[in-house]
Amino acid sequence: MSLATKFPKNFKLATATAAYQIEGAKDLNGRGFSTWDAIRLEPGRILDNSDPDLSCDGLLKYKEDVALLAEIGVTNYRFSISWSRILPDGTLSTINEEGIKFYRDLCLLLKENNIEPVVTLFHFDMPLAIYDNGTAWLNRENCEHFEKFADLCFQKFGDLVKTWITYNEINCQAWGSIVKVEGEFWLCPERPEIENHKQAPYFGAANMLLTHAKIYRNYDQNYKPTQHGILGITNGGRFCFPATDSQEDIEACNRARDWLFNFTIEPILSGSGDFPVLMRERMPFIPKFSEEEKEIIKGSTDFIGINYYLSFLVRAPKDGEKASSQSQHDGGYVFVEGKWDKICGETWIRYAPDGLLKILRYVKEKYANTPVFITENGCMDIVGQDQEDAFHDQHRIDYISGHLEAVAKALDEGCNVIGYTVWTLMDNFEWDDGFELKFGLCEVDFESPDKTRTMKKSAYFYKEFIKEFKDFH
Ligand code: NOJ
Repeated sequence: MSLATKFPKNFKLATATAAYQIEGAKDLNGRGFSTWDAIRLEPGRILDNSDPDLSCDGLLKYKEDVALLAEIGVTNYRFSISWSRILPDGTLSTINEEGIKFYRDLCLLLKENNIEPVVTLFHFDMPLAIYDNGTAWLNRENCEHFEKFADLCFQKFGDLVKTWITYNEINCQAWGSIVKVEGEFWLCPERPEIENHKQAPYFGAANMLLTHAKIYRNYDQNYKPTQHGILGITNGGRFCFPATDSQEDIEACNRARDWLFNFTIEPILSGSGDFPVLMRERMPFIPKFSEEEKEIIKGSTDFIGINYYLSFLVRAPKDGEKASSQSQHDGGYVFVEGKWDKICGETWIRYAPDGLLKILRYVKEKYANTPVFITENGCMDIVGQDQEDAFHDQHRIDYISGHLEAVAKALDEGCNVIGYTVWTLMDNFEWDDGFELKFGLCEVDFESPDKTRTMKKSAYFYKEFIKEFKDFH
C-alpha cells in the first residue's frame, strides 16, 4: 500500500503563501501601507537588506500561479487576504474595490481549476495606520476593526471561500507582533517611543483570543447557515519533549508546552475557556476573562491549524544558568541541541517528523480529538548550495515525505487530521530573512523581469503524490 493511498478521500493536500510574502508592494493598486512596509525600510533590519520593492509580483502573476497550482494538482490553496489591500487604513472608512476584485478573481480562477481556497485573514501584516493608532492588538479598537474586516470578507468572498483561518500562528503573533519586549521579537516595527510593555504578549493574546471568538460566533450564526464553510485558527506548533525522564525536566517541558503552544489554544479548546492553570498561577497579572467572555471563547473553532517545522528537547535550567525560555515568568527551561538533524545547513530547521506525530497525539488526547489542519510544513533550500542544486532538492522531498508518513500514522491511530499543507508554493519574502531563505516548491528567478517560476524536484514529487492520491479515490 503506497503512502498516498493511506489518506482518506476528502483529505486536503495543499500548499500555501501569504499576501505580504508574495504580492509585491511596487504597484500598490489601492493598498494602504502595512507594518511590513515600515519594517522593511528600517536600516539593517532585513538580513539581506533586500530592496523593499523586490517581490514575486504575485498580484500581477496570479493567473500563472494558479496554473502552477493546477499543474501540481493541489486540492486546496492557502493564501492570505491583505487587510490593508481591502481596507487601506484598516477601517471601514475606505473600501478598496480593486482589492476585492483581485481576491474574487483569484478565488474564481482557483475554483475553475478545482482548487478550494483556504483564506487566512491575518498573516503578520497589519495596516500601519491601525498599528500606529495604538500598538497592534493591545488596542481593543483595532480588534474591532479586524472583526469588521472579517465580516466584510465573509460578505464579499463567502460564496467562494469555504475554509477560513482568523490568525496565522496566534502564539507567534502574541510573542512577536506587538511591541519589542522580552525575548525575540521580529514581527513589529521599531517604535522607540512606545513604552516597553512587558506584559504585552499576554494582553495581546487575550485580545486576539476574544477577537477570534467573536469572529467565529459571527460566522457561525450569520454566515455558516447559508455559506456552509468552516472557520479555525492557526497555532505555531513547536513541540517540546523532555530531555530526560527526570521530574525536573518533565516539569520544565510542561511549562514550555504551556507557554509556547497551549497558551493560545487551550482557552478555545479546553472546557475552561481560559489560559492554562499554570500560567494563571505563576502570573496573577495576566488579563482575566469574564464568565461571559469565557463562554464566547470556549469551543470557538471548527478546527485547529498547526504550522509545524521542528521540535525541541527541553530540560530544567541548572542553578544560575540562563534559561532559553521566552518569558521571565515561566520558571525557566533550556533547549537542548542535537537530537534532530539540521537538514538545511546552519538554520533553525530540524528534521523531526516524530514531533509532528507527537503533537497530533497530544491534541487528540488533550483536546478531545479536535480536527487538525496542518496549515504549514516545509523547509528551506540548503543554505550555501549553488543554484543548480537547489532544483534537485532531495532533502525537501525527504522532509515532506517523512512528515506525510507521520500524518498517515496519526490517521491510522485515529487522530482527526483533515489536511496537510506544504509551505510554500514558491520562493518568497521570508520576513526578517529577506530572500535569503527559500522555502519554495518552485524557484523564483528574482533577477528576471518576469520573475520566472520553475518547479523544483520536490514540486514534481508532490504532484506525483497527489496524483496517486486522486487516482486511488
Ligand atoms: C511560518 C509563517 O507563517 C510563514 O509566513 C513563514 O514564511 C514560515 N513559517 C517559514 O518561516
